[in-house]
Amino acid sequence: MDKFFKTDNPAVFVESPGRINLIGEHTDYNHGFVLPTAIDKKIYFELRKNDTNTSCSIYSETFNTRLNFDLKIIKKSNSTWENYILGVVNELQNRGKELSGFDCYIKSELPIGAGISSSAALECGLASGLNSLFELNLSKQEIVNLSQAAENNFVGSQCGIMDQYASVMSKKDHLILLDCLSLEAEFIPTNFKSCKILLINSKVSHSIADGEYNTRRKECESGLKIIQNQYEEVKTLRDVSLELLDSCKSQLSEKQANRVLYVLQENQRVLTAVNLLKSGELQAFGKLMYQSHYGLRDLYEVSCRELDFLVKFSEEKDFIYGSRMMGGGFGGCTINLIEEAHIAAFTEEVTIAYQKEFKLKPEMITVVPGEGTLVKRA
Ligand code: GLA
Repeated sequence: MDKFFKTDNPAVFVESPGRINLIGEHTDYNHGFVLPTAIDKKIYFELRKNDTNTSCSIYSETFNTRLNFDLKIIKKSNSTWENYILGVVNELQNRGKELSGFDCYIKSELPIGAGISSSAALECGLASGLNSLFELNLSKQEIVNLSQAAENNFVGSQCGIMDQYASVMSKKDHLILLDCLSLEAEFIPTNFKSCKILLINSKVSHSIADGEYNTRRKECESGLKIIQNQYEEVKTLRDVSLELLDSCKSQLSEKQANRVLYVLQENQRVLTAVNLLKSGELQAFGKLMYQSHYGLRDLYEVSCRELDFLVKFSEEKDFIYGSRMMGGGFGGCTINLIEEAHIAAFTEEVTIAYQKEFKLKPEMITVVPGEGTLVKRA
């Protein structure tokens, strides 16, 4: 666990994983269903108190930079990774949690902007580490909530709860069917038989801090409001049926209607997909992954040419059961359910084709569903 670290006398070690999401995209902030899990790729932290009252020093090996700050002066930085750190400290202090000066060393094996949630791993890992270092007695759910709040309030991205939940709560070899309204979770064993999960990083970097993500969220919220004007019993998009949406269509803009339609369909797909997984029908499960992609491309409009190319390329192979863009969109990875025996040859083929089309080398990442955040005291 401690093979990376260089500080003296570390007190706490944290392993904080990235996440994948099999199906259920852009449904979390619409109070719907998602099917994520943590992966075996992580961010590693080492923390110690430093005998000062308020001076903190964070070293990121990935960026080869140091962030020094004072606990009494938490100001937004121009650098996004620093804001994830400062945002977590800010949320802890806002909740009346007492901190003193600390040092932290961070090393990441998660690609940034690839849609595997390096940001949630950073927030939740730091929050979990500080929870242990200062004996703050936060529950796992509180760590999830405050990490999401850090991103919403400090970084300014109105993300839902999926990434933080998956990073902290996942169990090895399971997917989480998470109801993002009640926060009830069912852990579904991953039985992918002869298949593996292969991520293909398009190398088009996305940042959900960019406006489009927040715009989608606003479009769904304003669409919901219009529906509520007509049907006051509707509390969230979960209460909207296809018939009900149809009856409101004339009052919604085309965009609003498409966004809402996508969300209703995607929620249904998640629930169907879970049943198919439970009964071992992997090919039918994979078909829903493709449908999810088409919805994200055509109705929700968060895909891009590079992702569409990768999904189409996969669709032509019968040894790939399902493929779709994953995460916020506009770049990052596709997630593919692929027969293991074909991974090597497919990797070669898709790399050549993608490079020819886009002059970019895609990155292949095989992942295994893993355990949520691990914290160890020295
Ligand atoms: C990002 C957000 C999540 C979720 C996904 C899309 O990863 O952080 O909350 O909305 O996009 O499903």
